[in-house]
Amino acid sequence: MSKKFSVPRGTSDILPENSSQWQKIELKSREILKNYNYKEIRTPIFEETDLFARSMGQTSDVVQKQMLNLTSQRKDEEGNIQLSGLSLRPENTASVVRSYIQNSMDRKESLTKLFYFGPMFRGERPQKGRLRQFNQVGVEVIGPNSGSPYLDAEVISLSVEMLKSFGLDSFDLKINTLGSPEDKKAFSILLRNKLTAHLGNLCDDCKQRFERNVFRILDCKVKECRDIVKNIEIDHSYLSKESSEYYSKVKETLDLLGVKYEESLNLVRGLDYYTHIVFEISDPSLGSQDALGAGGRYNGLVKQLGGAEADAVGFALGIERIMLATKNVVADSSEQLSTYVIALDEGSLPSAFTAMSNIRNNGISSDMSFRVASMKSQMRAANKAGAQVVLIFGEDEVTNKTATIKDMRDGSQRSVKDSEVVQFLKEILKG
Ligand code: HAM
Repeated sequence: MSKKFSVPRGTSDILPENSSQWQKIELKSREILKNYNYKEIRTPIFEETDLFARSMGQTSDVVQKQMLNLTSQRKDEEGNIQLSGLSLRPENTASVVRSYIQNSMDRKESLTKLFYFGPMFRGERPQKGRLRQFNQVGVEVIGPNSGSPYLDAEVISLSVEMLKSFGLDSFDLKINTLGSPEDKKAFSILLRNKLTAHLGNLCDDCKQRFERNVFRILDCKVKECRDIVKNIEIDHSYLSKESSEYYSKVKETLDLLGVKYEESLNLVRGLDYYTHIVFEISDPSLGSQDALGAGGRYNGLVKQLGGAEADAVGFALGIERIMLATKNVVADSSEQLSTYVIALDEGSLPSAFTAMSNIRNNGISSDMSFRVASMKSQMRAANKAGAQVVLIFGEDEVTNKTATIKDMRDGSQRSVKDSEVVQFLKEILKG
């Protein structure tokens, strides 16, 4: 027996029954993003590995454990093979910043507001809600001197508005601030001081994190580490007056917009590039992989990746997680097929086929079975396709140059001249 193939572990097919929900998420997002004046960007799904290592940080879990690497070969001028490291993108912030710098967007506009949809790849141990290929919709706002608490509040409230538009309302928004890079350094020292006494009881990973990336300890899922983290008291004493005022203004603006949030002093995010505001949105009904989306400010990244000084803020939402959380969102009725065409004998097939093509050319959706079959079985197919109206072609219709049109919504039926079919359909489908 020949081998049957399955999707690779940690990936999934989006089947037709789910794709309308998928489209709804994309459509709603696009509508809202247009209102907020964001423009779409599409970058390649792979980039130089170094781009990700330098942006997310060598010590981040993503770079340490989850990169899906490709290697590419090229010949240098002397004909020697050169290997260069490429990786499937684990996220899109770094790629967008790379493109922003490469395409001199900083010179075109003072504030560049971008959004993207697309697949990301992380070699994680798959489980419910945790995939190796998953999709994000995200935004990045980049510009010189663009750091503004109002913009942070816009970005956070945008993410909330998008989630609400998908029909979600039972999610929690957590926010925190890491402060400026100097404050962040002070925060890491504060954390190390608080954790030193517990070092022996941390898990092996966290023992390493203590030196390399102490913030990651706050996210550790191991029970012993969580108990320790719960009992150390973290406060905002590491914040400068300026950072503290900035943070207060973000909160005030969120209050003004009526966005509900909870402050979480433990929220630090696992990627190195964040400064100042960080946020995460989770849905408790999703179990252990409950983050629907996350983001924050990353003022130093553009410069770090070779660009001019620029401030930046953004977020990404995980589409598969949103799909899991919106299971009961009803399919859009605009997905319904308008017409279905039936031929009762071989002689009627050309008329039926031409009618279908003509209907489509007039912007009305139409389909058929492409072969002759009994009226009963073709009506069943029309019903299954969700057709609102059925056009029947038999010997009489071909001779009289008419179509019998049955409105499936009320069962009414009438004969219409070929030349008037499109107009008739337009009228009855209007309501
Ligand atoms: P992130 O927190 O790594 O942030 O990912 C954002 C969202 O992507 C998560 O909240 C989750 O919904 C989804 N996600 C992440 N990993 C997986 C996975 N393995 N399987 C399924 N869904 C997943 C970022 O990616 C940042 N680039 C966000 C950002 C944009 N910050 C600033 N700008």
